[in-house]
Amino acid sequence: MNEIKKVEKDEKLIVNICGEIFNRKEAKISVFDRGFLYGDSVYEVARTYNGIPFLLQEHLDRLWHSASLLNLSINYTQDEIVHQVNRALAELGEENAYIRIIITRGEEGILSLDPTFAKSNNLVIIVKDQTPNPKSWYQDGVKVILAKTQRTNRMAVDPNIKSGNYLNSVLAIMEARKEGVYDAIMLNVLGNITEGSHSNIWMAKGKNLVTPPLTAGILEGITRKMLIQLAKGNNIQVDQKDITPNELINADEVFFTSTTREIVPVTQIDNSPIGLGQPGNMTKELIKIYSKFIHQQTVDQSGNG
Ligand SMILES: Cc1ncc(COP(=O)(O)O)c(C=O)c1O
Repeated sequence: MNEIKKVEKDEKLIVNICGEIFNRKEAKISVFDRGFLYGDSVYEVARTYNGIPFLLQEHLDRLWHSASLLNLSINYTQDEIVHQVNRALAELGEENAYIRIIITRGEEGILSLDPTFAKSNNLVIIVKDQTPNPKSWYQDGVKVILAKTQRTNRMAVDPNIKSGNYLNSVLAIMEARKEGVYDAIMLNVLGNITEGSHSNIWMAKGKNLVTPPLTAGILEGITRKMLIQLAKGNNIQVDQKDITPNELINADEVFFTSTTREIVPVTQIDNSPIGLGQPGNMTKELIKIYSKFIHQQTVDQSGNG
């Protein structure tokens, strides 16, 4: 435990706040910022490979989409944000970097829920080294549980808004940590599968891939979107349809997708092994297809590939 704390403290990390560059210790934001007071902000997590931002345009588009669903106006252009991301990355100097872009509704003149009192946005960009996934995830997969915490209803805080209010996911991952597993998969009000605390979920049954539809109440993951296209391009059928917990546990293969963790095989749910209890062939095939895509989008374009 102490070791984890030490690594986090010593980690190289750069913060860009509204165009000013800070180190971890110096980076501060007002306690009157609505992001702090109410989670009234939107954010994205993107990354680089080989020094090149990966699918940054897709992340910016989703940032704008999240903001529009909250009626949060962004006073920056996408080009300005790209410029500030690049400045932070240049300062960091890591080939494989994690990029968090946060836009808050701004600081308050008076303490009030009413957003009309908000001043202009605060833009915070945090970049740090992106550690690779542990090898064991590819050899053995990860264990998960079904969360008791339900996914927020789409008619409440829509999970498709990537906002600073992530308490629903925090509650789910706390359940997972309590059980000593990687993550917890949340169900919706109908009892169907939605997603993990920070990644989309998929299952393979026979030759078909299935992932819950947006109507289940999920974040439309950018990795999910790309993998749907890539799978179809490789003649793998993908169905976006509701999945019951029983169907998931009885699938041949299960895996998560996300920007930072790519494709993570899941081999146990609530103590039941999935398929043969090892990462399956379809998952392995998709990992290869996705790695090739990353290579094409980044390494190949840098002139080093
Ligand atoms: C709740 C949730 N679902 C899914 C994802 C995966 O999205 P992406 O593939 O865009 O990283 C994330 C990560 O941002 C997430 O937080």
